[in-house]
Amino acid sequence: MAMVESGMQMTNMKLEKMISMVGGDGEFSYQRMGVIQAKAIRRLEPLIAEAVKQISLPEQGPLRIADFGCSTGRNSINYINFIVKCVADRYVDTAGENKGHVTCMPEMLASFIDLPGNDFNNLIQLLASEPTNAKDLAGSVTGADVGRASSYFSAITAGSFYNRLLPKESLHFAISIFSLHWLSQIPATLTNPSSPLYNKGRSWILGSHPTIAREFAHQSMLDLDNFLDSRAAEMAPGGIVFAYFISRQDPVNPENQTNPECRHRYFAGHDFENAWNDLIDDGVITAETRDTFNLPIYCRSKEEVEASVIKCGAFDVQYLQSLDDENLCPEDELMHMLQFPQSFATFFSTWLRAGFAPIMEAHMGRHNTDEFFIRHQRRIAARTTSLLSDPKAQQEYKILSMSLLLVVLKRKVPST
Ligand SMILES: C[S@@+](CC[C@H](N)C(=O)[O-])C[C@H]1O[C@@H](n2cnc3c(N)ncnc32)[C@H](O)[C@@H]1O
Repeated sequence: MAMVESGMQMTNMKLEKMISMVGGDGEFSYQRMGVIQAKAIRRLEPLIAEAVKQISLPEQGPLRIADFGCSTGRNSINYINFIVKCVADRYVDTAGENKGHVTCMPEMLASFIDLPGNDFNNLIQLLASEPTNAKDLAGSVTGADVGRASSYFSAITAGSFYNRLLPKESLHFAISIFSLHWLSQIPATLTNPSSPLYNKGRSWILGSHPTIAREFAHQSMLDLDNFLDSRAAEMAPGGIVFAYFISRQDPVNPENQTNPECRHRYFAGHDFENAWNDLIDDGVITAETRDTFNLPIYCRSKEEVEASVIKCGAFDVQYLQSLDDENLCPEDELMHMLQFPQSFATFFSTWLRAGFAPIMEAHMGRHNTDEFFIRHQRRIAARTTSLLSDPKAQQEYKILSMSLLLVVLKRKVPST
């Protein structure tokens, strides 16, 4: 898609039509690069299992699960399969002639939800090849083993999770992993060159002027309120929302999306901003093209999330915990990767590309995006090379670590 180099597309197009991960299974795809998230998700399994135990099970009809921000599939299918297995565990008879078998389990429906630009075809292909996704389960399963009983029906819904997407009180378990930090839109004042809040000199709000970061904070609050109100309507009483997303530690200053002393570590930190500067210095794009691009990501504080949950009023908090400096990749693997600066740079840059390229390409075209990632890789390689002789600095270069927030909510019984 060749775009004119005007740098104004982010202002004029609806962002939710542009956001997606890179589709397919090619070298830049989320399917390949989501392996980093997959490692972190696997570590969540005990907490997911615990959350499934908290669901108030339906007395009749199907049990419905939904993934909000499923992307192209592999990770989502893995954790949906895990949830389904955990649900089946709750129907295992503990006594009598069916002891150890799943009995009277309702049919299950899993909805995979993402924005319209998502590569749902990739997801469909993966679902079609799933051995557990039997479409012919009629009635409750009696005397089957848990593996067989963990089959489920699947549905795909294209839409924004900041809106209503499912029928009223129909959902028993909602999950959203690595998705809620994406905003629905960039506040218009930040991309308007004549506005006092024009985000000049940056592609994000990390370290920006506080008034600019507060615009993002406001948008984030509106989005989270919409997410919670929409889920409040969709969840059956006693249903569980399980959300895991990138967060920040500073409760007050949103420009500190990560701690000031850790900015070199962050996914969109110094190297990301400097790659934009390189692109401008090399004459590939104008400064205005960078300035009118804003990464639509906001890392909320625990306190901001708490405030929205209280304002919504429909949920009891089961768990709300900030996991600071969580390693997405085990420490020893990261240390090993850092010994090979060029391949590490390719890997890390491609990992970011899998998430950010579609919006960057929509803003400034494929060619300029390719040029950006060449420079980004160069920056990472240079930084990693400079660390080689300094083991202590390597230890501190936790580029694949971030603050994450785990939120588990239980839908209250509606008062009317
Ligand atoms: C990093 S991927 C996470 C995919 C998967 N949950 C995982 O953990 O591997 C984030 C996903 O959230 C989706 N997303 C972002 N904003 C969204 C919105 N408003 N509504 C629905 N999906 C959204 C993106 O399109 C993307 O597929």
